[in-house]
Amino acid sequence: MPDRTPILAANWKMHKTIEETERFLAEFLPKLPEPGPEVVICPPFPSLKSAVEHCAQSRARVAAQNMHEEPEGAFTGEVSAPMLLELGVDGVVLGHSERRQYFGESDEALARKLPAALRAGLEPILCVGENETQRDSDETEGILTRQIEADLADVPEDNLGEVVIAYEPIWAIGTGRTATPEQAQEACELIRGLIESRSGGAAVAIRILYGGSVKPGNAAELIGLPDVDGALVGGASLDPGDFAAIVDAAT
Ligand code: PGA
Repeated sequence: MPDRTPILAANWKMHKTIEETERFLAEFLPKLPEPGPEVVICPPFPSLKSAVEHCAQSRARVAAQNMHEEPEGAFTGEVSAPMLLELGVDGVVLGHSERRQYFGESDEALARKLPAALRAGLEPILCVGENETQRDSDETEGILTRQIEADLADVPEDNLGEVVIAYEPIWAIGTGRTATPEQAQEACELIRGLIESRSGGAAVAIRILYGGSVKPGNAAELIGLPDVDGALVGGASLDPGDFAAIVDAAT
């Protein structure tokens, strides 16, 4: 079994003010097992600085939920990698299905964002996944293949293993409907195979997470699958007790 440290990432989406972030971390951080899996908190932009400060004395790291590929420029409303680095942020979620669906995030933009994040020293968590119609019409493999090939096209082979990929079937996000272990394993195995076709070393090293209605009750089974190296957790990560229980399930 390859020695990949699991990652549990909390995707808070547009939830939690600075005060709520601090309250969460005051309760959650003391519950972190030592040693244990990697833990990444992804709060909204305004809470990043405070989250970095509060996590500094812990094993938890902090990631943003989006970034622009240029270091600076006339891009109103956007945030760049150097700005995130200055805050002490370690990573960035890219290509979440909500960004693809509601904000027009394209594979072309992601192909630029991935290398930009890596060049800056930010660990990218790239989200991919099919919607319900695509799954029902047996398009899952084609969708995942297209997203992985397009989004990672300009990431050099040497850096591929540094990317984290989150397989998030859209029909399982926030719905309470989790992929079955067979579905999650099959998709994550496919993704690892796609990485392997470019670099055998990267395929062994790369961490592939499952995301979509992960809860304390189903986390252990999903994270225990051979090609699943952790979870990207939305709703259940908003509660410090629930997220700590999910981290425990991976420990
Ligand atoms: P969920 O969200 O855990 O609430 O389904 C997962 C995600 O969108 O990353």
